[in-house]
Amino acid sequence: MKGALKYTIYKISILIITIFLVSKYMDRDEYTLSIIKPDATSRNLTSEINEYFINNGLRVVEQKATTLTRAQAEEFYAEHKARPFYNDLVEYMISGPVVVQILSGKDAIAKNREIMGATNPANAIPGTIREKFAESVERNSVHGSDSAESAKREISFFFNYDEVTNK
Ligand code: CMP
Repeated sequence: MKGALKYTIYKISILIITIFLVSKYMDRDEYTLSIIKPDATSRNLTSEINEYFINNGLRVVEQKATTLTRAQAEEFYAEHKARPFYNDLVEYMISGPVVVQILSGKDAIAKNREIMGATNPANAIPGTIREKFAESVERNSVHGSDSAESAKREISFFFNYDEVTNK
C-alpha cells in the first residue's frame, strides 16, 4: 500500500512537471526578421514604424542599419528569382539603406505580418504599416518573415541566430 502510494505520487509529480514544461514551451517567445526598406528609411520612418511593432506587443531585440550588396539582395530574395519583378526588386533593395531587425513576442511571425498588412498596399487594411506608408507593391516599406523556417533562415542571414534566441 505504501509502495503504491509512493508510485502514485511519483506519477503525479512527473505529470505536473510535464505539463509545466509543455506550457513553458508553448508560451515561448517567437522571433522574426523584419526589414525596414529603402523607401521608408529615405523618409525617416524607422521610429514611426517601430512604434507600430511596440504598440502591438512586439519587442525590437536587435536592429542595425546597413546597405545591402547586390549579392546579399539576390541571395535574400533567391526564392523569387523566376518572378518578373525579381531584378527590379533587387535594384530597389540596394538603392539605399535598410534597417534589419529582430522582433520578438508571442506569435511574433504572424503578429508582424498582421501589423505590416498585405504585400500590395492597395489590399492592406487600415491601421497597418503598408496601408499607411507603402508607395507600391514593390516599395512596400517593410519585409517580415512568412514562416518559422523563413524566420530562422532570414535571422541567420543577418545575425547570429543562436546568440539572439538563447539570451
Ligand atoms: P516582401 O514581403 O519583402 O517579399 C518579396 C517582395 O517582392 C515584396 O515584399 C515586394 O517588395 C516585392 N513584390 C512582391 N510582389 C511584387 C509585384 N507583383 N511586383 C513588384 N514587386 C513585388
